[in-house]
Amino acid sequence: MAHYIVLLGPPGAGKGTQAQIISKTLNLAHVSSGDIFRENLKNQTELGKLAKGFMDRGELVPDDVTIAMIRDRLKRPDCAEGALLDGFPRTPAQAEALAEMLNEWDAKIDCVPYISVDADVLIERLSGRWSCPTCGFVYHAVYNPPKVAGICDFDGAALYQRVDDQSETVKHRIDVYMEQTSPLIDYYRKAGLLVEVDGTLPIEEVTSQLLKAINEKVG
Ligand code: AP5
Repeated sequence: MAHYIVLLGPPGAGKGTQAQIISKTLNLAHVSSGDIFRENLKNQTELGKLAKGFMDRGELVPDDVTIAMIRDRLKRPDCAEGALLDGFPRTPAQAEALAEMLNEWDAKIDCVPYISVDADVLIERLSGRWSCPTCGFVYHAVYNPPKVAGICDFDGAALYQRVDDQSETVKHRIDVYMEQTSPLIDYYRKAGLLVEVDGTLPIEEVTSQLLKAINEKVG
């Protein structure tokens, strides 16, 4: 039976960092809506052009576009055993669409780990974030630095900082999260799927808490 796990948390909580690690441990496809948008942006597709303005302003891409994109992604062969969803759903309408999609495929969400981190920590994390344009690995200048500053450990590419990590945009992304995404915490709590993990712990400790919580829910 396919397993679907939704990682919930504010911008900079560590969803991508953790998803990179636990998708390998759980042998599940890592489906990141932000990464798919960024890949489309890099390849100058119509979807990328449409998403760019929203992303640069720190706003959400419209639900219909995002839902259709994730539906296509989840139908790919590497998601036959399920997926670890990172950054989707992000609105109540997206959550409803995901539930309908999975229902159609005789599947359901197994659990929703919520990585909680306060706003002041988020700003510090995002201002120190560096990403690899080739493999997508995410570093932090202080908390998870590459071996050589500015260079990816895995493929030697020059690291970059995201346009939407500038401080004004980060503040706006946090506001957007509070307004549009944080209602999902209660939505999934009421559904009995939410498990809260303290995202302020060191990366390895967050990973072990997440794996423990997921194993308890998935069995
Ligand atoms: P997206 O890429 O999903 O961004 P986000 O949700 O804002 O999340 P981030 O990637 O910023 O943070 P993260 O939680 O993954 O943290 P990370 O692991 O990198 O979305 C970008 C945009 O795309 C959106 O604004 C929107 O426009 C659009 N979009 C995406 N999905 C959408 C949707 N469903 N609907 C509509 N629009 C959508 O960690 C951050 C930093 O902290 C790193 O440097 C990391 O090394 C460090 N760090 C991580 N964990 C720790 C730790 N425990 N201790 C210390 N440092 C840590």
